Amino acid sequence: MNTEMVKVDEDYYRNKVFALGEIIRHGGLVAFPTETVYGLGGNALDGEAAKRIYAAKGRPSDNPLIVHVSAPSEVEKYVKEVTPLEKKLMDAFWPGPLTIVFPKKDMIPMETSGGLMTIAIRCPRSEATRALIRAAGVPLAGPSANISTRPSPTTAEDVLHDMDGRIPAIVDGGPCEVGLESTVIGIENGTIVIYRPGGITLEMLSAFAPTVVDKAILSGGVKAGEHPKAPGMKYRHYAPKAPLTVYTGNTDKVESEILSFAQKEDEKYGFFVSRETAEKLPEGLTLFIWGSRKDKESFAHNLFSGLLYFNKHPVDRIIGEGTDSKGLGLAIMNRLTKASGYHIVVEKKD
Ligand code: TXA
Ligand code: MG
Repeated sequence: MNTEMVKVDEDYYRNKVFALGEIIRHGGLVAFPTETVYGLGGNALDGEAAKRIYAAKGRPSDNPLIVHVSAPSEVEKYVKEVTPLEKKLMDAFWPGPLTIVFPKKDMIPMETSGGLMTIAIRCPRSEATRALIRAAGVPLAGPSANISTRPSPTTAEDVLHDMDGRIPAIVDGGPCEVGLESTVIGIENGTIVIYRPGGITLEMLSAFAPTVVDKAILSGGVKAGEHPKAPGMKYRHYAPKAPLTVYTGNTDKVESEILSFAQKEDEKYGFFVSRETAEKLPEGLTLFIWGSRKDKESFAHNLFSGLLYFNKHPVDRIIGEGTDSKGLGLAIMNRLTKASGYHIVVEKKD
């Protein structure tokens, strides 16, 4: 199969989007841009399309898919009930990086919901993608458009790397703004429970109702015997090819630890660090700067492309610098914990 890159321009909205909608309506797959990461889209009302998504990603089929709608008003067609709190959250954050879990109607097939009686829905910010959903006339089931276990793609080129020859088309809407997948929540007895941290933070949600983090993911991942509400959290995820260790906590200690690796010559190290730390490191290292320590948004934005950088510029081991878990830091550290397979070193103040 030939994979076509479709740029978002005037011709996209006038013509091309309708041909892509047709592909979706007939059970085919199209990768689409969002503000979080690129998605791999298929008709959410068609169980066979869902099976094709799992096959293209190489993903276990008990991991449910997120359903993307073109407008908040569409949700009622697919779910049994929208509560006043859910309505408020949709008004506040949609279109945007918040996914809400609802009890599903029967028209959503079990293949899409991964066998669950609930369905996760969000309305993405991308105009191009909402036009695609309208052209298809059906909601888009869409997990991140990477091969299972690899870092999520935040550019159309990263999607092509994983999906070339597996799908007919990729909509190229440029780099994703947020860079991390959406926050997945459910409402349990009036409390907002975060099943997967993301672009909409705990602090932002707390303004609407008491908000907690699903305890299965507080440790950053899921251990044997734990059952996370978002089944995807139990899988190996986001891993770069080289092993990654992340240092966080006391800044001085983190810096000196990272500096000590820059002086070693036993292995080829890659450095995934803040601008502040990079300024103290010698020249000539394989290095990716995720942004300033004062700017978590740039860290989130560069996280996955940074991890993929070390697949393109191979090293034996990646030494990473983390952040605290306030605001977006919770989502960033959740992804880094998984990407490193729990190799997080917390430096304490003496
Ligand atoms: O930002 C995003 O959410 C991206 C873009 C493409 O929209 N999509 C995405 O999809 O990250 P995916 O499939 O890679 O991750 C979906 C997450 C998984 O952790 C899954 O277990 C959880 O959402 N999820 C889906 N349906 C659920 C449900 N009914 N109950 C609880 N968790 C659910
Ligand atoms: Mg994913």
